[in-house]
Amino acid sequence: MSTRILTGITTTGTPHLGNYAGAIRPAIVASRAADADSFYFLADYHALIKCDEPARIQRSRLEIAATWLALGLDVDKATFYRQSDIPEIPELCWLLTCVAGKGLLNRAHAYKASVDKNVEQGEDPDAGITMGLFSYPVLMAADILMFNAHKVPVGRDQIQHVEMARDIGQRFNHLFGNGKELFTLPEAVIEEEVATLPGLDGRKMSKSYDNTIPLFGTAKQLKDAIARIVTDSKLPGEPKDAEGSHLFTLYQAFASQAQQAEFRAELEGGLAWGEAKSRLFQLLDAELGEARERYNALIAKPADLEDILLAGAAKARRTATPFLGELREAVGLRSFREQVQVVGGEKKKAAKTARFVSFRDEDGSFRFRLLDASGEQLLLSKPFADGKAAGQASKRLQSGEALDVREQGEAFALWLDGELIGESPAFADADAREAGVARLREALAPQE
Ligand code: TRP
Repeated sequence: MSTRILTGITTTGTPHLGNYAGAIRPAIVASRAADADSFYFLADYHALIKCDEPARIQRSRLEIAATWLALGLDVDKATFYRQSDIPEIPELCWLLTCVAGKGLLNRAHAYKASVDKNVEQGEDPDAGITMGLFSYPVLMAADILMFNAHKVPVGRDQIQHVEMARDIGQRFNHLFGNGKELFTLPEAVIEEEVATLPGLDGRKMSKSYDNTIPLFGTAKQLKDAIARIVTDSKLPGEPKDAEGSHLFTLYQAFASQAQQAEFRAELEGGLAWGEAKSRLFQLLDAELGEARERYNALIAKPADLEDILLAGAAKARRTATPFLGELREAVGLRSFREQVQVVGGEKKKAAKTARFVSFRDEDGSFRFRLLDASGEQLLLSKPFADGKAAGQASKRLQSGEALDVREQGEAFALWLDGELIGESPAFADADAREAGVARLREALAPQE
């Protein structure tokens, strides 16, 4: 069976060299594998959450679409589309909104960061926060679950969102699947080897640091950006420390082993920084020159790009439309014409119960959460070295044996065999904590 890989690109900016090395190039390479079934899309509904400048949104969609095509994405093999051309996505987003716990979304990093900032500045906690920002993870879950993606390549900051998609999908399956997995549960993939590219000043290349190298500017723009790369003040003839220079790191990201070895030897032999910059320019110009021409040709014919993207949307909808039909059916939005069931004849709906959600932490360890029926977190486990140990611990907790719950400030802790196994979030006061312990006991009570 093929592996479905899906990822979205938020259309708020112009792609730079860091985007190319870190995301676009690996994605295009992955899409060429024989067993790959890639869905890549412009997340332009997500862009509206961050940006209220229509001209910028429009420009960015065009530039990002042209970039991916110019760099060689094969739209006959991959499915390439704009999120906003798929009406099934916002419709699914609503179905998911109706099962996503508000408590779950309260914990999203992006939302929490905005609240914390408001509180810090003495503002109302929700000042300036839109429902778009709050519901961002639900829309992203709809993007992913709509196409039953197995793997979702993302940056580290997006891992939590993919986990939320899993969580929401799991809950939907549980409520409406009747024992069937309606949604495939996705996994985040972090490309460990793709080093993040340094920018002109040596910090991570990012638009927010204003230290980027343009991907498809003119040759002159490329040259000017390279001229601004910060180096030390060693004179021509003095040996340079290749390893310690981000100019060399940039070169490495695009050079063959042989080219890297040669450049390193030259730097260590005293090559002038000015010379070194012109080597980097030649390397990048050779790598990107042809694609730049294709990019300019595409940008000059936006109507052709429109056709390509509409064809991509039609292809994606051949999957989305029938699947959404199944999902509408599952939740009870059914045609009256096919009404055969007698009222009350429907199988009793599965009770909403507490559940364990396991996940991989950013440091690679395995943990689980225990969520109550409404999706509120009751317990976060300690990190485990492997998934099996985590699984065994969560099984033990459900085995019906007496629970060792200990007070711990505003929170409580759960112990097993004299070892701390997990902790609750902090509660507002002792009463709330006791209510939390009661919900924990109820959640872990053996089911009849
Ligand atoms: N939120 C992602 C980002 O900012 C973009 C995105 C939207 C996405 N929907 C997605 C990524 C679905 C992966 C899958 O990077």
